[in-house]
Amino acid sequence: MVDFGAQYAQLIARRVREAHVFSEIVPRSMPVAEMLAKRPKAIILSGGPASVHVEGAPTIDPAVFDSGIPVLGICYGAQLVAQLLGGEVHRTGGGEYGRTPLEVVGSSVLFADLPLQQQVWMSHGDSIVAAPAGFTVHATTPGTPVAALEHRERGIYGVQFHPEVMHTDRGQEILKAFLYDAAGCRPTWTNLSIIDQAVDEIRAQVGDERVICGLSGGVDSAVAAALVHKAVGNQLTCVFVDTGLMRAGEAVQVEDTFRNQFDVDLVHVKAADRFLDLLHEVEDPERKRKIIGETFIRVFEEAAADLGEARFLVQGTLYPDIVESGGGDNANIKSHHNVGGLPDDMKFELVEPLRNLFKDEVRAVGEELGLPEEIVWRQPFPGPGLAVRIIGAITPERVEILQAADAIVLEEIKRAGLLREIWQSFAVLPAVRTVGVMGDARTYAYPIILRAVTSDDAMTADWARLPYDVLEAISSRVINEVPGVNRVAYDITSKPPGTIEWE
Ligand code: XMP
Repeated sequence: MVDFGAQYAQLIARRVREAHVFSEIVPRSMPVAEMLAKRPKAIILSGGPASVHVEGAPTIDPAVFDSGIPVLGICYGAQLVAQLLGGEVHRTGGGEYGRTPLEVVGSSVLFADLPLQQQVWMSHGDSIVAAPAGFTVHATTPGTPVAALEHRERGIYGVQFHPEVMHTDRGQEILKAFLYDAAGCRPTWTNLSIIDQAVDEIRAQVGDERVICGLSGGVDSAVAAALVHKAVGNQLTCVFVDTGLMRAGEAVQVEDTFRNQFDVDLVHVKAADRFLDLLHEVEDPERKRKIIGETFIRVFEEAAADLGEARFLVQGTLYPDIVESGGGDNANIKSHHNVGGLPDDMKFELVEPLRNLFKDEVRAVGEELGLPEEIVWRQPFPGPGLAVRIIGAITPERVEILQAADAIVLEEIKRAGLLREIWQSFAVLPAVRTVGVMGDARTYAYPIILRAVTSDDAMTADWARLPYDVLEAISSRVINEVPGVNRVAYDITSKPPGTIEWE
């Protein structure tokens, strides 16, 4: 999929994979010869924000249309098909945005078994007003005379609408018709084939050398470790640094899953005292983060040194970390180092078995590998752990209060069946105390702040509209079951202006 700066670039790639066809996003600056060297079965030209009429508008070498590889242009991509092959694209003033009725015309590959009337999602200013010679028009809308076009012999297709968004009723079927019927792709990209391929690649990379993996308790490092273990068994040693700032029960669960169920060689470094000593009386959020980051690296390095020579380090880098969409040509690749923020100068070669996968694929692979649901569906958790949710000084007692309250929050969210809808839900312990009355006695104790947000990527977030009965269950359980807490408040701040975490 050639990215012309589409808002939906990653979504198109994901939809293709949901059709069980592997897809890769490439920048539009990539020479066509280089694209073809990847031996694609099909090429999709994405949408994008530009107009083909502006000076310097992004384009593609028309050689792509003579390559014999079937091409589908979507939105801007369709306009490029039209313009580069001799059709006409005009700024008609009749742009269409949102849900639009589509009328299918004639017999086409893309709409073969679909109804003649359907709803599609549009987002365009320019319109194709004339298809190039040799093309047939297969759909129109009230505002667009050429909403779909094709040249069956040359294998070139275009749709003005967005088949990848769910508001296009038959979008996935249209994409599948292109992939399977126009391009002859087979639906072979499945969880099992992903696992087989990853295992082969890991074995080829690692040979008989030793490998280390830092486990954070999160889904990415867990799935990466499980894949590497499947590939090279006991050549892998996992290191789990227990900072004492994890969620309740997390350390036990990591140990149980990896050591007992998977028989992984696991080093469980119990470093809670060391972290808490260093954090003693530290209140400044940035200093907390710095101390935790540095100590984490030191502890990990010490554990690695104790293990002797390992040449490889596993990282749970995901595909969205590798491809930065937006069509900015130089911004296309960025490197992320996300397992505990280990530094580049550690002398390891990286093994990144998830580098081609989206998060939902990682979860599916995790389930296929038999990882427990609690790990596979775990919510994101910040590297510095509960330290950034304990406002002010961190003491063992305050960690215990927060862990207990946090566990109740998660239990109630799960009980309400909301776990997979909610991006993160957790408790925050502020540095103030409030007055209350319990029994007949006055209390002076901590409040707990409940934070629950919905989000797609943590860049923006909204506070979750939790049902009142869930709020009530959390509030009464926290106050009744957690000593030292006498009040629960709900944070109703979106991001921006707030952040998800409190520090
Ligand atoms: P904020 O608070 O910035 O958080 O809205 C955005 C997302 O990032 C997580 N987060 C972190 N993750 N190391 C991490 O690996 C960190 O230092 C860190 N700080 C915040 C946070 O939980 C949310 O999902």
